[in-house]
Amino acid sequence: MSCPSADGGAAGAGAVSGGEATWDAGLYDRSFGFVSAFATDMVDLLAPEPGERIVDLGCGTGKLTADIAARGADVIGIDGDEAMVERARALHPDLTFEHADGRDFAIEGLADAVFSNAALHWMKEEPARVIACVARALRPGGRFVAEMGAHRNIRIITDALYQALAEEGVAAEAVDFPWYFPRTSHYVGLLEDGGFDVTQLRYFARPTPLDDCPNGLADWIAMFGQNFTDAAPPGRAQAVIERTIALSRDRLCPDGRWVTDYTRLRFVAVRVSEG
Ligand code: BEZ
Repeated sequence: MSCPSADGGAAGAGAVSGGEATWDAGLYDRSFGFVSAFATDMVDLLAPEPGERIVDLGCGTGKLTADIAARGADVIGIDGDEAMVERARALHPDLTFEHADGRDFAIEGLADAVFSNAALHWMKEEPARVIACVARALRPGGRFVAEMGAHRNIRIITDALYQALAEEGVAAEAVDFPWYFPRTSHYVGLLEDGGFDVTQLRYFARPTPLDDCPNGLADWIAMFGQNFTDAAPPGRAQAVIERTIALSRDRLCPDGRWVTDYTRLRFVAVRVSEG
């Protein structure tokens, strides 16, 4: 098998502007199901108990929300993208989903846990405000269980995108970098300042295959990398994608299978009791 290239055409578009994603939710489910598939052990880490009130922050199309509900918890899925919320509601009509910004969501009453998978790195503005919101939603002693992209996440891909743009005469400053990939020490500081005790934490590389993407990295860029392709000179976006693929192929697709260079920060933090 050879690595697919950009020639097959990018599969659909997840429009990204101003750092806020507007997703092609159907494509996301078809080709990026690994996002939730990789996180089933996150639900084990959350360990939802029957009857617990749980918020799934950045729930996407609701796969993990449904897994949490299947364990008997009373779960609310929240996402900042309307298309994702609509699809989540259509796929899981018996569950509750709300459209809200991670920086100012609110729930009625207090939750036992807030869960978040592969979403916090999209909330790049004011992460301390996101954490404050999570703290406000939790009862004292409630837990915040999350995994996010972390320092050095997808560095090979983004370095290649920046280089491909530079070769087109585009400066790095022209790209509105859409993600927040914090260092562990920085994020732990935010959690502690925000009223949490971090009880578990792991930073790790998690190479992630793109087996459901027929066009490999081209599909990934089409789904997630639009802030980069938007910065390309007129008519040159496809050339930037092809060059990015050429620059990263040796490291990410050495034997015919695209495997992206994800790094993760996974943690459990407990809301400190007041008083
Ligand atoms: C991630 O899960 O790390 C990720 C996904 C899409 C774009 C950037 C990062």
